[in-house]
Amino acid sequence: MADHQPEILLVTFPSQGHINPSLQFAKRLISIGVHVTFMTAASAIHLMNKTSPLQGLSYAYFSDGYDHCFQLTDDSNHYMAEIKRCGSQTLREFLAQSIDRGTNFTCIVYCTLVPWVATVAREFHIPTTLLWNQPASLLNIYYHYFKGYDEIISKDINDPSFLVKIPGLPLLSRHDLPSFFIPPNSHVMSLLAFKAHIEILDQETNPRVLVNTFDVLEAEAIKAIDKYYKLVGIGPLIPTAFLGRKKLAETSSGGDLFKVTKEYREMEWLNSKPERSVIYVSFGSLSVLAKPQMEELAKGLLDTGRPFLWVIRESGEEKEEEMEGLTCQKDLEKQGMIVPWCSQVEVLSHPSVGCFVTHCGWNSTFESLVSGVPMVTFPQWTDQGTNSKLVQDAWKTGVRLTKNEEGIVEGREIKRCLEMVMGGDMRGEEIRRNARKWKDLAREAAMEGGSSNANLKAFVVSLETLK
Ligand code: UDX
Repeated sequence: MADHQPEILLVTFPSQGHINPSLQFAKRLISIGVHVTFMTAASAIHLMNKTSPLQGLSYAYFSDGYDHCFQLTDDSNHYMAEIKRCGSQTLREFLAQSIDRGTNFTCIVYCTLVPWVATVAREFHIPTTLLWNQPASLLNIYYHYFKGYDEIISKDINDPSFLVKIPGLPLLSRHDLPSFFIPPNSHVMSLLAFKAHIEILDQETNPRVLVNTFDVLEAEAIKAIDKYYKLVGIGPLIPTAFLGRKKLAETSSGGDLFKVTKEYREMEWLNSKPERSVIYVSFGSLSVLAKPQMEELAKGLLDTGRPFLWVIRESGEEKEEEMEGLTCQKDLEKQGMIVPWCSQVEVLSHPSVGCFVTHCGWNSTFESLVSGVPMVTFPQWTDQGTNSKLVQDAWKTGVRLTKNEEGIVEGREIKRCLEMVMGGDMRGEEIRRNARKWKDLAREAAMEGGSSNANLKAFVVSLETLK
C-alpha cells in the first residue's frame, strides 16, 4: 500500500440492514483510492461472501459474544449489552495489534448502533466519523428528543391525539415516531445506543455525520439541524450497477447473510410478467409477522388477482412447516411466487415490478425510491414508522396500511391500498409520478458531479488533514 493512501477502519452493526449500506460505502471509498478494513461481528462476517477479494478491501471482526452462531437474539437488551462489552474489548485488542504491526488508521468510520466504537477510538487518539444509515430525519428526531425538546417531552405520548412539530419535519403523530419512544419500550438498550450517539457528537468540535440519504431528499431536515451537526448526504448506498452507473467493483463480493437453499428462478418468472404488474412483498431481514397477519396478507394479495413475489424467510420464526399451514397455500403458489430470499435491488429494478409492500426498513425504502417503485407501507418498529410517514407525506411515493381495532391489517385494506397505488386512481397516478421523479433525483445525486458524489469526495479530501 502506498504511504499516501488513506486507511479507514469501517465498523458496522452485524445485521443485513447495516452491512449492506456499509459495504457499498466501502466500495465507493476504494474506487477513489482509500484502503478500507471492513469490520463487523465474527458471527456475521463468516457468512459474507469474500471469495472475490477486492483490491483495497480487507476484513476484520470483533466479538459480539455470539461468535459461532449468527443470531440477533430475541433478548435485544442482552444482545446490545454484550455487543458493547465484548465488542469494545476485542476492538481494543485489534487496534493495539494493528498499531504494533505499523497500521495507523487515518479515521475510524462507525455506523448506527455501535457508538462504543467511538469511545474506544478515542483511547487510541484515532479520529472518528459517524456513518448514519437511517434517514437524516431520524437523527434530527433523536437530537431533539435527547436534548429535551419541549414539544416532545412535555406532551403525553400515550394520548392518541399526540402530535409534535419538530423543526424540518412534517407534523408527527405517535406512530410516526421511532418505536423506542413509545412505552412500554422493550428495547431500552437500543434507545440508549441512540442517546450515546448524540452524546458523542456533542463532544466533537464541529460534528459532521455522513448520512445514507441525498441532500435534496431531506433538505429541510438537514437544514433544521445544521447549527448543531453538519449532515452530509452520500447516498443512495446501493450497488452502483442499479443506479444506472457502471459497477464500481465486483458485486460477487457480497454481504448476504441469508442463503437461498433451493434453486428459485424469480428473475425468469419476473421476465414472464407484464410491465409494472407484479407486487413485491418483503419485510427485510429481521421483522416477523404473526400467523393471523400472514393469513390476512395472503388474502389481500389473492384478492387483487395480481401476480406477486413474496419473500418469507426460512430462518425466522416462520419455519417452513408453518408456511405450509397457510390456508390458501396452493392458490398462493398459483398466482405468485414465494421465495426465502432474493436479490432485492435486482428485483426492484425489474420493469415488471409495480409496487412494493414493505416494512419500510431504511434500505428497502431507499432501494424502492431509487428504483421508482411505489410503496404500500407496513412499518413494524424502530425507524420504520417515520420512514413510512416520509414516504406517504413528504415524498408522496406510497401509502400506509391502516390496522383495525385488534391491531391487524385486514386483507381488504391491503387490497384497497394496492389497488390505489397500482390502479387507475388519481392518487395512484400522482404516486407513480412522484416515484419517477425521486428515482431521477436519486440517480442525479449519485452521478459524477452529483451532490452525494461530491460530498463523498470532499470527505476523502478532508482525510488528508487527519494524516
Ligand atoms: C434494519 C431495520 O429494521 C431498519 O429499519 C433500519 O433502517 C436498518 O436496519 P431490516 O429490517 O433488515 O434492517 O430492513 P432494511 O433496512 O430494509 O434492510 C434489509 C436489506 O436486506 C435490504 O438492503 C434488502 O435489499 C436486503 N434484502 C431483503 C435482500 O437482499 N433480499 C431479501 O430477500 C430481503
